[in-house]
Amino acid sequence: MKLFARNLTLACGIGLLAGSAPAVAGGSVEVLHWWTSGGEAKAIGELKSSFEAQGGTWIDSPIAGGGGDPAMTALRARVMAGNPPSAVQLKGPGIQEWAQEGGVADVDDVAQAEHWDDVLPPVLASIMKYEGKYVAAPVNIHRVDWLWANPELLAQVGAEVPTTWEEFNATAEKLEAAGITPLAHGGQPWQDATVFEVVALGIGGPDFYQKALVELDPEALQSDTMIAVFDQMRTLRGYVDEGFPGRDWNLATAMVMNGEAAFQIMGDWAKGEFLAAGKVPGEDVLCAPAPGNGFILNSDSFVMFGVQGDEWVEGQKVLASLIMSPGFQETFNLAKGSIPARVDVALDKFDVCAQKSHADLTTAIGANALVPSLAHEMAVPRSIRGEIMDVVTEHFNTDMSSQDAVQRLVDAIQRAG
Ligand code: BGC
Repeated sequence: MKLFARNLTLACGIGLLAGSAPAVAGGSVEVLHWWTSGGEAKAIGELKSSFEAQGGTWIDSPIAGGGGDPAMTALRARVMAGNPPSAVQLKGPGIQEWAQEGGVADVDDVAQAEHWDDVLPPVLASIMKYEGKYVAAPVNIHRVDWLWANPELLAQVGAEVPTTWEEFNATAEKLEAAGITPLAHGGQPWQDATVFEVVALGIGGPDFYQKALVELDPEALQSDTMIAVFDQMRTLRGYVDEGFPGRDWNLATAMVMNGEAAFQIMGDWAKGEFLAAGKVPGEDVLCAPAPGNGFILNSDSFVMFGVQGDEWVEGQKVLASLIMSPGFQETFNLAKGSIPARVDVALDKFDVCAQKSHADLTTAIGANALVPSLAHEMAVPRSIRGEIMDVVTEHFNTDMSSQDAVQRLVDAIQRAG
């Protein structure tokens, strides 16, 4: 009740009440999310305006911070205070963790009426459900293992986009010799972990990735392959510029866009930045799967938290239905850089990178080469992700040997488990 009263006050503050009871049609939502970069803000703006176009009232609660760690801290604080937002950008095993805690509302009536089971890839549908009921609505499929490249800088050293890590390193050496920063990177734990998982897939392949970073198999974690992964991380460390510590991911993306660095290893939310800046993906900035043979899956979704009052419950239903509507999935993903979560949305209006993402996703599903992102909270519980990120970041920023990093990884996971 306390929650409802507070939210209603907020809603009134932005003009819901004008001498009459709040209208239930369209309902109200308070949406906690971390989409604050140029491309991200444009994409969430699509959701907000579509929701408002249906008569709803939208209360925006953005918490800046790529990868969402600050947003998750804010969510925890809001829930502890007994005042959760009504809809939260949340994903992967985190959905189950919050549902187990008991604060999550289901939107299964909407899902059943709209036949979500028939239009979502099974791997996504199962992530969205708790005890057989939908508690989340997915907006997209992001691919993490992308290499973004500035074509003019590559041309300056006569290089093509590399297809192996050896080629990547050879091209990076040439770029360095020509005075060009090879790799745009932001030294934040989630960005270090993003690069790490891409390298792990590239060097070890999908089976190794699955065993090491999803099943946390000690043998895979201690293998020579994992040592080679850390070796490549050390090599990459040599290719970033001095300004990398703490840099936000979208500033690293801008470096590639503006010709200040040749490559970025980042998920296709980077493409949202290129699009927002009016660049043509595949021409002004090249996209290629990072060296490797698989597909690292990341999918954004919204989870509804338990709220009281018709206005808020209605808002959740309208939001869930809107998120899953084919028209919205098209518009949103055209801005966000991802592809629709629904399998029945045509991709005609999407660029070559999105088409490639879709084709490779289909191939990866058939070849059992689709793996969930560790850095983007799709693979393991948050506490374990945190332990792994600590080791990856410490290794990247010190002279820790690959052997020591592997040992630290095994110890940390044992501790957390
Ligand atoms: C989210 C993306 C977001 C990116 C950077 C990822 O974890 O899935 O939607 O754009 O973080 O903030």
